[in-house]
Amino acid sequence: MVHTVIIGTGCHVPARVLTNQDLEKMVDTSDEWITTRSGIKERRISSKDEPCSFLATQAAKKALDMAQVKAAELDMIIVCTLTPDMLMPTAACLVQKNLGAEKAAAFDLSAACSGFLYGLATADNFIRNNISLKILVIGAEVLSCRVNWKDRNTSVLFGDGAGAVVVTGRNGKRGILSNHLHADGTLWKLLHIPGGGCVSPPSRQMLDDNLQYIHMQGRDVFKLAVRAMEESAREALESNNLSPQDIDLYIPHQANMRIINSIAERLQIPREKVYVNIHKYGNTSAATIPIALDEANREGRIKEGDLVMLNAFGGGFTWGASLIRW
Ligand code: ACO
Repeated sequence: MVHTVIIGTGCHVPARVLTNQDLEKMVDTSDEWITTRSGIKERRISSKDEPCSFLATQAAKKALDMAQVKAAELDMIIVCTLTPDMLMPTAACLVQKNLGAEKAAAFDLSAACSGFLYGLATADNFIRNNISLKILVIGAEVLSCRVNWKDRNTSVLFGDGAGAVVVTGRNGKRGILSNHLHADGTLWKLLHIPGGGCVSPPSRQMLDDNLQYIHMQGRDVFKLAVRAMEESAREALESNNLSPQDIDLYIPHQANMRIINSIAERLQIPREKVYVNIHKYGNTSAATIPIALDEANREGRIKEGDLVMLNAFGGGFTWGASLIRW
């Protein structure tokens, strides 16, 4: 049986740290409010020299190094992002150039915070058709360029960073067991960036109206995220005849500590099996899961044979779960 196996992980975050105390000086908020409502203590912010493709390339180099795969061997690069360097070319093409991955096809994939799960599922399907393929899947975001730093409802939540995996096919029981992807476009308005596309192209008016920034109904998003992530997690387990007790490490999208706690409680996954790094990076959208996966991997939190669940929810809305036998 061919399975898609993760053979290398890597991550990279910008050096600049923006703490809750720094934010207290920028908007009407407090470290206490941010910590108790979200679990976030600090986040990383990119400089002009650290665009999406730069963060993605740095994370990719570490993943390639661990996988002992040369960039020239890559068949495909998928960059999951909603904040590419520019509208054209894709961040993936810039990563391909940076790495010198001459034979790799390259494209961006946009599914907001669920982007990495959509990207991993796409790579998995290519590999199930051709076991020898080597694919780089990256989640990379510079959300700081889409945050209104005067809006306390959103500015405290987001950060920048990138995580990457190298995947290939292997015969055996290890690897991605299944992916479960969902979307509901009817609720798009609850979380969106209205400006910069063809509906509101760049203009002075668009900037004056702050349409270039993330607009979010936080309370509604919170409830929907808990429900959808729990449902997709259960769907993934049931389709593999497994139960929550079988999970060795649960890696949820890092959007809000209270969202993570609610799902873990509903699924009855004990705290020590839930990977959390939201306090360090905030919500880096498509990058949260691959960053967490890499940190967990390098910390020795995942052993061969462990059952790892990835679970995400984001704008669109999009959501899903992937189960991996490590
Ligand atoms: N500092 C201080 N007060 C604040 C801040 C802030 N940064 N932001 C909001 N408040 C105030 C509000 O104005 C409100 O005041 P009011 O009662 O006087 O009107 C009060 O705090 C409570 O606001 P709520 O929005 O009800 O607070 P809530 O407990 O829901 O927390 C939060 C808000 C953190 C945004 C939460 O709803 C959340 O995390 N939602 C999920 C959103 C999310 O993660 N989106 C990311 C993309 S999707 C995803 O990744 C899952």
